[in-house]
Amino acid sequence: MQGRQIKRCGLFSLTLLATFLHCSCLPHSTGGKPFPETAKEIASYTKVAKSIIDLAVYGKAQNRSYERLADFTDTIGNRVSGSKNLDLAINYMFSALRKDGLENVHLEPVKIPHWVRGEESAMMLQPRNHTMAILGLGSSVATPQGGIEAEVLVVESFEELKKRQKEAIGKIVVYNQPFVSYEETVQYREIGASKAAEVGAVATLIRSITPFSINSPHTGWQDYQEGVQKIPTACITVEDAMMMARMAKRGQRIVVRLTMNAQTFPDADSFNTVAEIIGSEHPEQVVLLSGHLDSWDVGQGAMDDGGGALISWEALSLLKDLGLRPRRTLRTVLWSAEEQGGVGAQQYFQLHKVNISNFNLVMESDLGTFSPLGLQFTGSAQARAVMAEVMKLLKPINTTTLEQHGEGVDIEMWMDAGVPGASLHVADSRYFWFHHTNGDTMSVQSPIEMNLCSALWAVVAYVVADLEEMLPR
Ligand SMILES: *[C@@H]1O[C@H](CO)[C@@H](O)[C@H](O)[C@H]1NC(C)=O
Ligand SMILES: *[C@@H]1O[C@H](CO)[C@@H](O)[C@H](O)[C@H]1NC(C)=O
Ligand SMILES: *[C@@H]1O[C@H](CO)[C@@H](O)[C@H](O)[C@H]1NC(C)=O
Ligand SMILES: *[C@@H]1O[C@H](CO)[C@@H](O)[C@H](O)[C@H]1NC(C)=O
Ligand SMILES: [Zn+2]
Repeated sequence: MQGRQIKRCGLFSLTLLATFLHCSCLPHSTGGKPFPETAKEIASYTKVAKSIIDLAVYGKAQNRSYERLADFTDTIGNRVSGSKNLDLAINYMFSALRKDGLENVHLEPVKIPHWVRGEESAMMLQPRNHTMAILGLGSSVATPQGGIEAEVLVVESFEELKKRQKEAIGKIVVYNQPFVSYEETVQYREIGASKAAEVGAVATLIRSITPFSINSPHTGWQDYQEGVQKIPTACITVEDAMMMARMAKRGQRIVVRLTMNAQTFPDADSFNTVAEIIGSEHPEQVVLLSGHLDSWDVGQGAMDDGGGALISWEALSLLKDLGLRPRRTLRTVLWSAEEQGGVGAQQYFQLHKVNISNFNLVMESDLGTFSPLGLQFTGSAQARAVMAEVMKLLKPINTTTLEQHGEGVDIEMWMDAGVPGASLHVADSRYFWFHHTNGDTMSVQSPIEMNLCSALWAVVAYVVADLEEMLPR
């Protein structure tokens, strides 16, 4: 997951209000089919849902998504936008989906950013020599040859930077902002460099966006603001940021030498990877399942977002194994260049939005594939009522909750345009411990948790794609 996609939904309270307004009468689904009939229709899937769950959790598909993910990430490794590894990953997945016997497996061309980290280092020289663990942020410029050696100004917030802006001139600004939540704190990573450049800083070092640390830096995309000098920017560990804050408080003078050789190349050719089970009655109508195939250039990208990609594949495998072909098409899309701002998904939307009325539900998993709790969902009150019935089919694995707003940078444009959207909701407390670090490896994944995620994903996708009517908008 990239960052900005966790939206504070301004319409949140309006949605709630709409829900209340509709509570007084029974919601109707589309086309006039009375809701009690839809509920009965959904309940008739209890047995088939159970068979999907049994296959994924207890049957011969047990641990398959985990084993596939392990093979994929151990073989390919990380796969940042524009890299040779991402090409290898797409080839790997294209072959694997074909070999699995899925339908209409193909690649759709997209153009994606190509940023390369290069060598980088940060040495504290004053008050003592200390090598800091850093990771340059995606899209950062390099330092001049030989690096930047400068005094440090430590601030805890943008407000403090503003108050002390005169002190920032010619300095390396260190942000030691406390972690509040990912969605709130990530703004320091995203716009911290430009904010500091505006007041004359020469570089920024940003405390990693995480609630927990064992001295690991967390990378991620950052955005230079229009018309502002581009200065080199990297993340540092929570430990080093806190230490420099303590030093500064004691009045100690801190000097750091930062060296970065990052380069930005012209956009590269890439692909979104697609596989389907074609619908029996309405092949043109689609339930889309997705995760992103690219990752950062550290760790294995197992959790972000290998897991989401793999359960989106596994869901189709499970249904194929059971010989289940829904009325509508199930389409798995593995996105390219999510981490740079949903770049592959944006191009997919531009190309396919002409058929938006045929998109029944868009789904994305990009917050980890840990113990599933249910779904986060965006849609009308009527659609929510239908989805709540569908979630009841997941009672055997206790994942029946339907939360507010679906999220995911790769599906948000569909949701903004009125298509119902769902994201996998997991017990994600550990997600931001490993997010965008060398620690994002297979060791954080559990086969048992992935079995449950796959089951949930498959049941929801299948039932929604097979109902007599599309989800109401
Ligand atoms: C699946 O993984 C669990 C946990 O590691 C293990 O106990 C179980 O034996 C595995 N099942 C299969 C079929 O490999
Ligand atoms: C610190 O590092 C510099 C070289 O960067 C070296 O000249 C100096 O001796 C070191 N100081 C200590 C105390 O080791
Ligand atoms: C739109 O849907 C039609 C009917 O299924 C299909 O033939 C066409 O290729 C689709 N166009 C795009 C851009 O997906
Ligand atoms: C679901 O909850 C029931 C009752 O608490 C429990 O017996 C069962 O093991 C749970 N199933 C799963 C897959 O967690
Ligand atoms: Zn991701």
